Amino acid sequence: MTYDPFDPAVMADPLPYYRVLRDQHPVHYLEKWDTYALSRFDDIWNVLEINDGTFVASEGTLPAATVLATHNDGPVPDPPLHPMPFHANFDTPIYDEVRRCTAAPFRPKNVTRLGERIRVLANERLDELLPKGRFDLTQDYGGIVAASIVCELVGLPTDLADDVLATVNAGSLAQPGSGVEVANARPGYLEYLTPVVQRARAEGPGGLPIVDNLLAYRLPDGSELSDTEAAVQLLGVFIGGTETVPKIVAHGLWELTSHPDQLAEVRSDLSANVAVAREEMIRYCAPAQWFARTLRRPFTLHDTTIRPGQRIISLLASANRDEREYDRPDEFVWNRPIPRLLAFGRGQHFCLGAHLARLEITTMVTEFLNRVPDFTVDTAAASRPPSSFQWGWNSLPVEV
Ligand code: HEM
Repeated sequence: MTYDPFDPAVMADPLPYYRVLRDQHPVHYLEKWDTYALSRFDDIWNVLEINDGTFVASEGTLPAATVLATHNDGPVPDPPLHPMPFHANFDTPIYDEVRRCTAAPFRPKNVTRLGERIRVLANERLDELLPKGRFDLTQDYGGIVAASIVCELVGLPTDLADDVLATVNAGSLAQPGSGVEVANARPGYLEYLTPVVQRARAEGPGGLPIVDNLLAYRLPDGSELSDTEAAVQLLGVFIGGTETVPKIVAHGLWELTSHPDQLAEVRSDLSANVAVAREEMIRYCAPAQWFARTLRRPFTLHDTTIRPGQRIISLLASANRDEREYDRPDEFVWNRPIPRLLAFGRGQHFCLGAHLARLEITTMVTEFLNRVPDFTVDTAAASRPPSSFQWGWNSLPVEV
């Protein structure tokens, strides 16, 4: 077996590869990329917990193939301060300080305050979509609701939600052989985000806390972020907030309708059961496949020593299906015990939007089931494009 995350066959369906990796090659060396693929839940859980500078994201958490093609002969330093890339490429303290600038709206209390707004947006979408009888569950429903929330979080009008969704979708398309080149998509994203920062700078503090915090931030050398640099720090929210939740909502509803007994159980008490089913939807349907770290110190796992400058990729999507962690992991079971979950990552880079994602999924699934007594997915027309990154149901036509 050869596993390469950018191989078209892997990008079309990585799951069989993950099983072989977990069983036979839990620390699998990818010579071309000088990278080790970790596939077992326990190994990834333990490695991501280490926060002492051994594993850093100085080459990005989602490096393109062109970056991985360079074999480093030692530790990779933090990037230069300017032009400042996305803060995840730095280690602490810059990483933590910039992350803190953007974190406030994602704290549990502030997320709870968004609950009613998400419910209103979901119902507005359903008012428009249900009379049509047929629509795309991923894009037309979850996609627009999630993109509208992102617009509001970063200070854009919600009538741009359609455009934001299309831009993020286009930026996440993966090419066989090289995967996702997020850097190429940046000019498109920054067309939205840079004017937001420019406006906030011109108007002074008091508008959006995220942007105000970024503009007030001073780097260790005393310098400040330029408009573009501040806009770049919003990319995680812009992309992460738009592309993952809709695929989980659509795929999760599809799993429920293909298991009518499970759907009936969930429907019997939506307010109690959707939050339980949501966790299985996240485990089973989360589209992100892996994230990378570059080593700064040697690390040994299962008798393999990984050297500074080499990388690991944590195959989170494999961890979600690890039979050592979950009983019959390839089956969707709405109320299975999920004592540990890696779908949001772990440790230093743990998903900033996890509380929001959970609330969005619960609300969108609940409102849909509340208003739609019966629905069928047009499986022949559903599409899950090959990807090294976001392998999920981009399009899921549904008849209601
Ligand atoms: C169920 C939906 C979601 C899943 C499964 C998910 C998953 C993840 C994962 C695995 C990471 C860690 C990447 C790494 O280890 O390098 C991450 C990071 C991140 N996510 Fe999410 N995410 C989701 C929704 C969201 C939402 C709704 C937002 C924001 C509105 C968001 C914003 C972010 C940001 C900003 C980061 C970067 C954190 C950092 O490096 O400081 N995500 N996400």
